[in-house]
Amino acid sequence: MVLIHPPAHKIHARPLPKWRWLPQFFINPLSIYSEQAFQSLYARSSAFGIDTLSVNDPAGIKHVLLDNMSNYRRPVVLARLFRPAMGQGVFLAESDEWRRQRRMLAPLFTPAAINDLIPHFQTAGEQMLSRLSGGGEISLSEVFHRAALDAVLKALFSLKAEGHHADIPVMVRDYLGGAGRPNPMDGMARTESDFGWAMASRQSFSRKWTAMVDSVIAERRAAGGDAAHARGDLLDLLLAARDPQTAEGLSDAEIRDQCSTMLAAGFETTSRMLFWASYLLSLDPAEQDRLCGEIAAFSPDQVTRMEDLAHWPRLRNTLLEALRFYPPAAYITRRAMGDDEVGGHRIRAGTEVWISPFVLHRHKKFWDQPTAFMPDRFAGVNAPWATVEAYLPFGAGPRICIGASFALVEGQFLLAHLLSRFRILATDERPVLPVFRVTTVPDRDPVFSVAVV
Ligand code: HEM
Repeated sequence: MVLIHPPAHKIHARPLPKWRWLPQFFINPLSIYSEQAFQSLYARSSAFGIDTLSVNDPAGIKHVLLDNMSNYRRPVVLARLFRPAMGQGVFLAESDEWRRQRRMLAPLFTPAAINDLIPHFQTAGEQMLSRLSGGGEISLSEVFHRAALDAVLKALFSLKAEGHHADIPVMVRDYLGGAGRPNPMDGMARTESDFGWAMASRQSFSRKWTAMVDSVIAERRAAGGDAAHARGDLLDLLLAARDPQTAEGLSDAEIRDQCSTMLAAGFETTSRMLFWASYLLSLDPAEQDRLCGEIAAFSPDQVTRMEDLAHWPRLRNTLLEALRFYPPAAYITRRAMGDDEVGGHRIRAGTEVWISPFVLHRHKKFWDQPTAFMPDRFAGVNAPWATVEAYLPFGAGPRICIGASFALVEGQFLLAHLLSRFRILATDERPVLPVFRVTTVPDRDPVFSVAVV
């Protein structure tokens, strides 16, 4: 079997000197790495007066994300970038407040709750196919953005991504490509509100985003839920949510912020996973043929329960391999609140710990043929995101992505629908390289040809 090695950034022979590293970091952090990064377990650096420890050691990662997690919080830069879209929702909450929110949200993401979302994912897949009609030359980024938004809007609010909702991907894309991009002021800021003048465009986005989420919730409340689904949508579950310890519900503002968080965290990441999986399949037509055979043998309309997804092991493994190569969350960062030691490395309060799934997933110590596209490496591995120590597409520890199963089930539905009718072909041979812009995006938006089988 011929192994496919997807295009990758040049790996520098030696670590870049700071005067090259820093500007390149703001252009694309994924292009700064040297051979050493993919072989070492720890690396120290500093920028803007902040010490940073990059950790690839699974024991060190476990220490930071699990064993001593109370000493580590999300850094200021994340709050500056994400607060405008996520408000006081679970992603940016800390300590007891985070624990309370996570407890209340847990019932939304149990296997039974995800199972109930299957009809929504099914409809999102069918609508994606009807929009594609006879295929042709298309931007898969746009197709998946629209379909993933459709899926999350249906799951959250039983609504379609039509009319004014179709503006949501544009809002998100504009934010991620503009005001939401990290800048040197974010590097220098010590609190969320420092350099307030540099936050004006983020605040303006926040006002528009909040008004949009409020109007979607109002629309859904006026329309009522979807009676066809016994447990309703995620909004129904949020309205009914009670803290198991205090029996208190969520206020309207909290419900709005959790919906904002699910929308913001849920559809850009998933649509990127689908884009990269499709790109990989376009590079490997033989694997794509095998996958299409699997889907032809058990078509998407036959899937009615999560267990049915077991008919598509290759599909699952392809998504997992796409998440390995191009983890949408390429960095998981924490700021130490107090002094600590990680793997023998002293950490002072204020140090930032950087865990990069992008680096870890291509690390020579942990992966056989790390640069090859090999979905079969995940064959038979149960929930590798929770069991394989060097595989962290969804993070790790108690703050692991709450939507991991949601994303994978949705992803399998949408890609299966696409491949049940079309083959994905590249229209040119120019490489597509990953760039980190809050999520891992392509450096250009390639046109693909989707041809009816
Ligand atoms: C392929 C798709 C996705 C990827 C790769 C992904 C990745 C991640 C990662 C790496 C984290 C942990 C960040 C950290 O520890 O700093 C995270 C957290 C989170 N994700 Fe996802 N995510 C995806 C889809 C989703 C979906 C579909 C939802 C909701 C519908 C969601 C909601 C969240 C939330 C709320 C958190 C914060 C959890 C907490 O702090 O307790 N994600 N995600």
